[in-house]
Amino acid sequence: MRGSNHLIGILNFLTFLLSIPILGGGIWLSGRANSTDCMRFLQWPLIVIGVTIMVVSLAGFAGACYRSTFLMGLYLFCMFFVIAALIGFIIFAYAVTDKGSGKPVTNRAYLEYSLQDYSGWLKDRVASDSYWGKISSCIRDSKACKKIAVTVNGVPETEIMFDSRKLNPIQSGCCKPPTDCGYTYVNETYWTSGGGVVGINQDCSLWNNDQDQLCYLCSSCKAGVLASLRHSWRKVSVINIIILILLVISYVIACAAFRNNKRIDNNEPYGEAQMTKSQPSRFQL
Ligand SMILES: *[C@@H]1O[C@H](CO)[C@@H](O)[C@H](O)[C@H]1NC(C)=O
Repeated sequence: MRGSNHLIGILNFLTFLLSIPILGGGIWLSGRANSTDCMRFLQWPLIVIGVTIMVVSLAGFAGACYRSTFLMGLYLFCMFFVIAALIGFIIFAYAVTDKGSGKPVTNRAYLEYSLQDYSGWLKDRVASDSYWGKISSCIRDSKACKKIAVTVNGVPETEIMFDSRKLNPIQSGCCKPPTDCGYTYVNETYWTSGGGVVGINQDCSLWNNDQDQLCYLCSSCKAGVLASLRHSWRKVSVINIIILILLVISYVIACAAFRNNKRIDNNEPYGEAQMTKSQPSRFQL
């Protein structure tokens, strides 16, 4: 029994350590300036799961250290829900981010994003007027578009330099007009239509050179936010899947040890009985 308690102790210590990256993932999601910073509400499930795993694995660790059946029982009971929640969250994260990606544009190094490529719950959420108002003003306040400016000797970079840059989805979708509008580059966030034909893309008329408006109302900006969310959620999901596997392993081991622990507690005093009776040792790890 002592051996399996050590094992549970170690496993719980590991899951405790693992809860740190989950928490970190949640905080990282919120700390990513200019994108998910603006979608704070989405990081809460991760932080809640991270804190719960932390507390529950501490209980498991203490239960293993003090051979406390109560703590181990509590641990197993709570961990069941934690694992269920984690599975739910992973499925959710994949389901809401299953579609959509950037499209290459001729002669441009950056990708462009359009809202038609996205669908489902997250898209409806992001694109809804009430949320979009909050998200877009948050993007504006994050100064994401000011940060794309590059100057050479005090002059804005040339169009050729700009075209050969990689932009993140927010910058591409929100800070410049879509390429098919055919606007003329002045600087990264200032484009003139030159009185020419405006593309059929609705975003073309939504573009505004006012540095506080830019393309924040464009659907390309909404698509950029979705692309950026998708990217970060996929990364976080990879961490979550690894953690899930480790949790399930330690759960199974802890379950077996718990049953064994209870059997010994109920039937025989620890130690001497094991010498005379060989039965319980079958369940030992
Ligand atoms: C681009 O030009 C406009 C108009 O001259 C100016 O207001 C804006 O600050 C410039 N933006 C950048 C990023 O240099």
